[in-house]
Amino acid sequence: MSVERLAVGVLASGRGSNLQALLDACAAPDFPARIAVVISDRERAAALDRARSARVEAVWLDPKDFADRESFDRGLVRELEKRQVGLVCQAGYMRILSAAYIRAFFGRALNIHPSLLPAFPGLHAQRQALEHGAKVTGATVHFADEGVDTGPIVLQAAVPVEPNDTEETLSARILVEEHRLYPAAVRLFAEGRLEIVGRRVIIKEPR
Ligand code: GAR
Repeated sequence: MSVERLAVGVLASGRGSNLQALLDACAAPDFPARIAVVISDRERAAALDRARSARVEAVWLDPKDFADRESFDRGLVRELEKRQVGLVCQAGYMRILSAAYIRAFFGRALNIHPSLLPAFPGLHAQRQALEHGAKVTGATVHFADEGVDTGPIVLQAAVPVEPNDTEETLSARILVEEHRLYPAAVRLFAEGRLEIVGRRVIIKEPR
């Protein structure tokens, strides 16, 4: 019996290695989700090429075509709704999302961030961890809300900071965990196992 897989929209601004991890996971026949569309605010984002290579629709939305952030995000929501996505994954999407987007997708939008939130939100999380002298950092998948990297946490993985780490070596080690966590979080969502209770996300037993 073939079961309808959850349609996922991915937002990405750059390299797209997390998108690739999701595409690879979706290639497995038993994965409960499929990528329906990849949307970028950057025309030359490698993420768009990765989507095309996987025969997934790739859409560039040019911020210059919109008056302001709210109207850009209304355009974004229209594109996602046109494809009837049940989940949005922000994967290295570097624009701050406005209330218009969060109103449409709260509880159905995930973000990945390269730190153990709430430590080191915002840009250059790995550099922040090094500069702070943290001994442990990591990766977080969380539901998106109106703040920057503040929503309810779904999954986290810790990564030790080594004495000789540079921003590059630390980022590479965190990225390995990101690529494992994001498909795992999407699977949990697609299986209906995530419930938001205030700031907490309850992970329910499989049915
Ligand atoms: C990833 O490390 C992701 O966690 C980070 O950007 C990188 C994108 O890489 N996101 C943030 O910092 C969001 N605050 P990718 O394009 O190869 O997936």
